[in-house]
Amino acid sequence: MNKNIIDLQGKLEALLLAQRDNFHQGKVADYIPALAVVKPDLMGISVATIDGKVVGAGDYQHAFSIQSISKVFGLVMAINRIGDSIWQRVRMEPSGQPFNSIIQLQSEKGIPRNPVINAGAILVSDILTSHFSSSKLAFLTFIRKLAGNENISIDNQVYLSEVKHGHLNAALAHLMKSFGNIDSKVQDVLSHYFTQCSISMNCEQLAQSLLFLANKGIDPRTEKVICSARDAHRVNAILSTSGMYDQSGEFAFSVGLPAKSGVGGGLISIVPGYGVICAWSPPLNHYGNSVVGMNLVASIAEELGLSIYH
Ligand code: DON
Repeated sequence: MNKNIIDLQGKLEALLLAQRDNFHQGKVADYIPALAVVKPDLMGISVATIDGKVVGAGDYQHAFSIQSISKVFGLVMAINRIGDSIWQRVRMEPSGQPFNSIIQLQSEKGIPRNPVINAGAILVSDILTSHFSSSKLAFLTFIRKLAGNENISIDNQVYLSEVKHGHLNAALAHLMKSFGNIDSKVQDVLSHYFTQCSISMNCEQLAQSLLFLANKGIDPRTEKVICSARDAHRVNAILSTSGMYDQSGEFAFSVGLPAKSGVGGGLISIVPGYGVICAWSPPLNHYGNSVVGMNLVASIAEELGLSIYH
């Protein structure tokens, strides 16, 4: 193992140790009952770099529910499929509201503020449902290819739990449908959305699968173009301004990296020109962001001087 990798490995282990007791400061999501059964003291971090390093510490190979991190993959797929016309149906502004808020959607006539709040991701799910003959399979295939792992799959317990408790998401979809901003059947759109949220992955797989966003749209391992450089820039911009929901301003202020959280406790952060950090710890703060996950990303970003605002 080369020295840089050993140094990074040591740093990640030290950061995890420093966070060991902080999981008590958050609460595991229980509004989807299948998420509530995850052990709160699991935690891991992985860093993948565009020059081929992959380093991890703690529970970085333990699979968890990716939840809203799936919104990043969905957005890239939708942009690739329908191009700039997506921006006529969803905006690129922070919402300043909780991730599942319905309040703005009524006054803004069914046009979601951005593609990474729930309303926006449901809109993206409509695009995928309408433009792929089997959008769920297309989604899974896309993720499996990016992660280089054919075994990535959907957690059916989480999926069923989401369907059963997804009334607010159903309300968002119906409201957009009433404004003419949903083409497919609401039931099909929600089924796609809940499916992509229910995919299980670990930190190492997530960090590697998003490397193209740190490398102007090109997967550095295969040199395949996953999206255009312009769209990688746009996705990163949206993650910077909205990826941490109503805490995006604070995250930009204190960390300075594009990021996306999920209520499964995962957090991915893109470091353009360097790589991807993925941290996981299930207990969340009241914004729906992982407490320890944020601390871990903040610490490594500071230690390595990774902020994009330097
Ligand atoms: O829509 C939901 O309720 C979930 N399936 C996903 C939400 C989520 O992860 C929000 N992120 N922090």
